[in-house]
Amino acid sequence: MIDFCVCRDEYTGDLMELIRLFESRTNESLSLDVNYFTEGGVFKVEISSDKFDGFKKHYAFPISYDGALERKRVEKRYLKVAIYRTLGFLTGVDLPYGCLTGIRPTKLFCEIEASPAKYGGRSAREVFGEDYGVSPAKVELIERTVRVQAPYRNIKGEYDVFVFIPFCPTRCAYCSFVSLPLNKQQKLVAPYVECLERELAQLGKTIRAKDLPIRSVYVGGGTPTSIGVDNLARVLDLLDFGAQEFTVEAGRPDTIDKAMVDMLLSKGVTRVSVNPQSFCDRTLQILGRQHRVSDIYGAYALVKGKMDVNMDLIAMLPGESFEDFKRSVDTAVMLSPENITVHTLYLKKGSALKLENYGGGDFDTASRMVDYAYKKLTDSGYQPYYMYRQKYTSGNLENVGYAKQGKACLYNIDIMEEDTSILAAGANAISKKWESDRNLITRCANYKEPLEYVKHIDMMLARQAEFWKN
Ligand SMILES: C[S@@+](CC[C@H](N)C(=O)[O-])C[C@H]1O[C@@H](n2cnc3c(N)ncnc32)[C@H](O)[C@@H]1O
Ligand code: SF4
Repeated sequence: MIDFCVCRDEYTGDLMELIRLFESRTNESLSLDVNYFTEGGVFKVEISSDKFDGFKKHYAFPISYDGALERKRVEKRYLKVAIYRTLGFLTGVDLPYGCLTGIRPTKLFCEIEASPAKYGGRSAREVFGEDYGVSPAKVELIERTVRVQAPYRNIKGEYDVFVFIPFCPTRCAYCSFVSLPLNKQQKLVAPYVECLERELAQLGKTIRAKDLPIRSVYVGGGTPTSIGVDNLARVLDLLDFGAQEFTVEAGRPDTIDKAMVDMLLSKGVTRVSVNPQSFCDRTLQILGRQHRVSDIYGAYALVKGKMDVNMDLIAMLPGESFEDFKRSVDTAVMLSPENITVHTLYLKKGSALKLENYGGGDFDTASRMVDYAYKKLTDSGYQPYYMYRQKYTSGNLENVGYAKQGKACLYNIDIMEEDTSILAAGANAISKKWESDRNLITRCANYKEPLEYVKHIDMMLARQAEFWKN
């Protein structure tokens, strides 16, 4: 338990995230008092603790920012560095990502590479290790990801289209996304698809009127294939924008049959997800996924060779040992899809596991699992091409997408690196306008809950039209 007190409130939420990470790794009980101020062109941080009599640490950082927004970002980072070093000393704990609690380490890595002068001419690799305390293994992962994704980055200012379909056969125990189980919410499918058709018709008009070049279309969820061939076909018919990549998440293997695959191919879909999560029947049952491992093989046989395939796996699922996870990774590699994405379990509000107070497991096992996945995949011809971190993740670890040579998913890179404008439709969808010259993203969000989306569709159509007017 760390009793944390800071002189001002402006960064408390972010700093608490770091404190929580230490709390998850130590049984120490101590207090930490943080005071910060600017003096003589220097940002100063003083930290005291009751762990030792008269314990006080002083830190001084150069002021290297322009504008209020940049100031907040940099001050917050300095505070995290100071707190990380102090707590590291007091507890003896090293965190794999050091003081980085943000979810996009690759983005920060690229920012440092773009302006080395701000960091005393040091490389991003050095700054990550020396200042932020990121472990050598994670620096290697981040740097490798940045290098692999470089040739896929959106340098021509093209656009993406995202469509959200919030239905699933059942709700998985770990899931905190907007997703309605079809056994209870079937009646909402028809009105939802109608509203989506209206929104996509308007979005198509915008794209054609402005002649926007679309590089990727991504239909995600939820499980888009769970709404059936006819409903999904109506949606896909409105997404013919000549994109070089067209993904549909067919995440649940029990929603894929030959008719579905034929329809996806006829609409020009180039990439699907068939997500095992685990190749262990016992785990699938605990998760409430209502399908068996044999269904994964069946679904995969239907799509393999016809479209690029991604498989999602999760480390630290309830009841799983290192050996169970290893078998899942080995099986996915043996099946040889174009992409394999390895997540580490995170437990957020809204998931059944969180409600049941599932603890998420220990750091060492989580670490062994993700390290094994990295080694096995990179030894087997896969490269990490995008990564992100979530709050409340077992062991404070990461989610990494791996791809075979030439097979990275553009949309996944665009969404993580935040350098692409996205026209988004459906409940929970957030359209984004990216202005590279001002390094600015503006957003227009639809209602999150599907029922609200259906109720307020006219208002959202008007808002989207206004958002994309210029
Ligand atoms: C946005 S979800 C939707 C994909 C699809 N509906 C499915 O589940 O098959 C994408 C992936 O995130 C991962 N994921 C979802 N919730 C998670 C959690 N609590 N912890 C770790 N990974 C999670 C799963 O691997 C999932 O396939
Ligand atoms: S299939 Fe995916 S979106 Fe649906 S409940 Fe499971 S994890 Fe959530």
